[in-house]
Amino acid sequence: MKIEIVADYEALSKRAAAIVLDRVTQRPETVLALPTGNTPIGMYKQLVQAYWEGRTDFGQVWAFALDEYAEVPAEDRHSFSSFLRHHFIDPVGLAARFDHLRGEASDLEAECKRYELSIAARGGLDLAVLGLGVNGHIAFNEPPTPFDSRTHVVDLAGSTREANASYFPDGFPIPNRGVTMGIGTILEAQEILVIASGSSKAPIVARIVTAEPTVDIPASALKGHPHVMLLLDEEAATGWKD
Ligand code: PGA
Repeated sequence: MKIEIVADYEALSKRAAAIVLDRVTQRPETVLALPTGNTPIGMYKQLVQAYWEGRTDFGQVWAFALDEYAEVPAEDRHSFSSFLRHHFIDPVGLAARFDHLRGEASDLEAECKRYELSIAARGGLDLAVLGLGVNGHIAFNEPPTPFDSRTHVVDLAGSTREANASYFPDGFPIPNRGVTMGIGTILEAQEILVIASGSSKAPIVARIVTAEPTVDIPASALKGHPHVMLLLDEEAATGWKD
């Protein structure tokens, strides 16, 4: 696992965007897996700016959302697909080449199978960009998740629901289930970029870097992948570096 440390959130956002832009330049039909959360917002801003300035063309790119809340319809503004459409997909004109898990599907198991087939139909993921949960989750793969898991339905961890509560108005019920690409699905990407920012991520980053791979730290599965970069800002790196 390659580790790169940059000064701060701004630098992390620029570096992550530069990596995505480079891969899209190399291979215009790049298939991306995209994260939701606070961390990637700066990266999406950079990517949208690059598009507006004519520095890139996402015309042949395919994008897949990593995960979604169960029972939250795609049109609901709290859904992860709404988040991705707002921050990246719509501003760069990718709506027709964007697939996401339908959390409102009446048969979620069938929806998970459909998603795997949809990814395979695009030839698999080229670049999966991942955020990192404070408990080591990647996408909605909570500890412990088997490393060979495929797209599946999950019960969300308390720490995940707490971390995501700020997205919901007071009193709004925070979903307790999700649907997510599995760790096995993610590990099949040609390349994986994990972005982590801020001191709240420092303890889990230190565990990932120092521990042997274990299902109790889902992100540790990435250590077995040949082409992974962990991109950190100084604060996220403190627990391990100092
Ligand atoms: P965050 O979420 O970017 O909002 O910290 C990361 C995650 O839980 O995957």
